[in-house]
Amino acid sequence: MTHITRRVFSGAALGVGLAAPAMAQGAYPNRPITMVIPFAAGGPTDTVGRLIAQAMGADLGQPVVVENVGGAGGTLGAQRVAQARPDGYTILLHHIGMATIPTLYRRLAYDPVNGFETVGLVTEVPMTLIARRNIEANTLQELVALIRQRGESLNYANAGIGAASHLCGLLLMKAVDTRMTTVPYRGTGPAMNDLVAGTVDIMCDQTTNTTEQIRAGTVRAFAVTTEDRVAALPDLPTSAQGGLPGFEVSVWHGLYAPKGTPAPIIARLNQALVKALETPSVAQRFADLGTAPVAATRATPEVHRQFWMADIAKWRPLIQAAGQFAD
Ligand code: MLT
Repeated sequence: MTHITRRVFSGAALGVGLAAPAMAQGAYPNRPITMVIPFAAGGPTDTVGRLIAQAMGADLGQPVVVENVGGAGGTLGAQRVAQARPDGYTILLHHIGMATIPTLYRRLAYDPVNGFETVGLVTEVPMTLIARRNIEANTLQELVALIRQRGESLNYANAGIGAASHLCGLLLMKAVDTRMTTVPYRGTGPAMNDLVAGTVDIMCDQTTNTTEQIRAGTVRAFAVTTEDRVAALPDLPTSAQGGLPGFEVSVWHGLYAPKGTPAPIIARLNQALVKALETPSVAQRFADLGTAPVAATRATPEVHRQFWMADIAKWRPLIQAAGQFAD
């Protein structure tokens, strides 16, 4: 391809008038892209990420390769991307933790807000309160009584401070006014293995990781943390229906690139994200797991950034009042 054609091609492909300097080297992408998932393989974030990565790769014409970088509540993976070259070949799929980490972690090796460009929101996932299947409670009220009775002799699994499972645990222990012993994992995928084995007692995790276990009866489910029941789990009451009103949280996910990634590359990544969200097989798999892609109108970089900033402001006072920080 001649240089002029290449620039026009890449400009046309990106729907922009003039290709950014970064485009002069050839149409983007011209090699595989790495999508960092900041939690262990097999968990809910990994599930969302792999679905989106495959569909985005089909649109981009290059593989989007998932790399799991777990640990420290999702901050190690976020750091990896914040410090990557802003060339469009390293992106991050993260979740509500991006709104809590700026307050929870006061000594990070990267800027948890200004270190990123937003590409677009992906999905919002309900959480479910679950326990080992032989737990000594059958209803949410009985579980609340057990937590109040047993307190710190009960082990609560999460994916580290700042993880969605950690936040849900904070809300639960606040609602029950009792602390349990938290057991951190590199992701709720590995934590689920211990819950099924019965070596850890309770967990609050996303339907993308719990729906199939609940259906299989390998764990006991008590509530879904949303205002309405989830179609994929019609028999599971909401926390309000179970007698614990106000215990509500759902986990939004978004796609990010390193700060300074050229706007035409962000636009091309967003185009591929929207295409992925509109892919029937992605929407169906999300539905099977209790969630749904966000509407295209919400999947823009601008809406994502506004939503993210508002959520940081929402969680900051709650976290400061709890007085629990990661450092
Ligand atoms: C979390 O608990 O925040 C994550 O969803 C855990 C995971 O994806 O493994």
